[in-house]
Amino acid sequence: MIKVVGVVGAGTMGNGIAQVFVQAGFSVRLVDVAQPMLDRARGSIDKSLAKFVEKGKLSAADRDAALGRLTTATSIDELAAADYVVEAIVENPEAKRNLFQKLDALAKPGVILSSNTSSISITTLGAATRRPDKVLGMHFMNPVPLMTLVELIRGQATSAESMRVASELCTRLGKTAVEAADYPGFIANRVLMPMINEAVFAVMEGVGTPEAVDTVMKLGMNHPMGPLTLADFIGLDVCLAIMTVLHDGLGDPKYRPCPLLRRMVAAGHLGRKSGQGFYTY
Ligand SMILES: NC(=O)c1ccc[n+]([C@@H]2O[C@H](COP(=O)([O-])OP(=O)(O)OC[C@H]3O[C@@H](n4cnc5c(N)ncnc54)[C@H](O)[C@@H]3O)[C@@H](O)[C@H]2O)c1
Repeated sequence: MIKVVGVVGAGTMGNGIAQVFVQAGFSVRLVDVAQPMLDRARGSIDKSLAKFVEKGKLSAADRDAALGRLTTATSIDELAAADYVVEAIVENPEAKRNLFQKLDALAKPGVILSSNTSSISITTLGAATRRPDKVLGMHFMNPVPLMTLVELIRGQATSAESMRVASELCTRLGKTAVEAADYPGFIANRVLMPMINEAVFAVMEGVGTPEAVDTVMKLGMNHPMGPLTLADFIGLDVCLAIMTVLHDGLGDPKYRPCPLLRRMVAAGHLGRKSGQGFYTY
């Protein structure tokens, strides 16, 4: 029975993941190397839950109870008590492999270690542990409290039982789980990122302005947000990193990152977070 969930990394994704678990009645231990990130995460969760209360979707008592189920710490030793772990630290293969090795040494034997990675091989993370059958991808979408999809990634050695447990957990969170195999980009980024990359090519080649490309996809294809607006939201550095993973991992030139995307990232034009991307913020 899963009661205590460990979440490692309290950034954009980690705080959202911690929030949905406490809202669903789990106790969460949120761990980050940086105390300021933990403080910020608590603030974000507080604010997000307040919005649910304002909209009448959550009672004040339930909000207080949810906040009471959240504890934070700067040491992963806290996760020895966890029944399930979600890792959401920086998208760096070396950092994640090191962490999985440590988590494996520390977590109880039956505990599933999941990763929120957007693009790193789950099989590789599993191979850093002595429990590769209990390592899987649990890819939440941003913003986590609002987006209902969770992509569950099955590594080469992940057991059917681990996938079943993760899928059930998604249902308890009110999310819809979709299973994907462990190939570069899984499903979400395999389909989304080449579309964004192609939109950047269209701008580079003068086929259309960013506004024109976004308007075509919004009004013509009924996308809620144009691909370049979405790229600015995700971060152009993140888009470039994912395209690089697709290109390296699949080897097909159709995945080559657009030179304009590279140039914008080199200039520090990363989208919303830097104030400048395809649009100015
Ligand atoms: N941002 C998105 O839209 C998005 C969407 C889906 C998946 N992801 C994936 O989620 C993960 C986290 O992304 P994010 O955007 O939340 O990153 P972020 O940079 O906002 O947060 C990462 C956090 O991890 C902490 N951290 C780094 N190393 C650590 C360690 N060894 N132990 C504990 N904490 C550590 C950092 O202090 C930071 O607070 C990445 O794997 C990313 O690919 C991101």
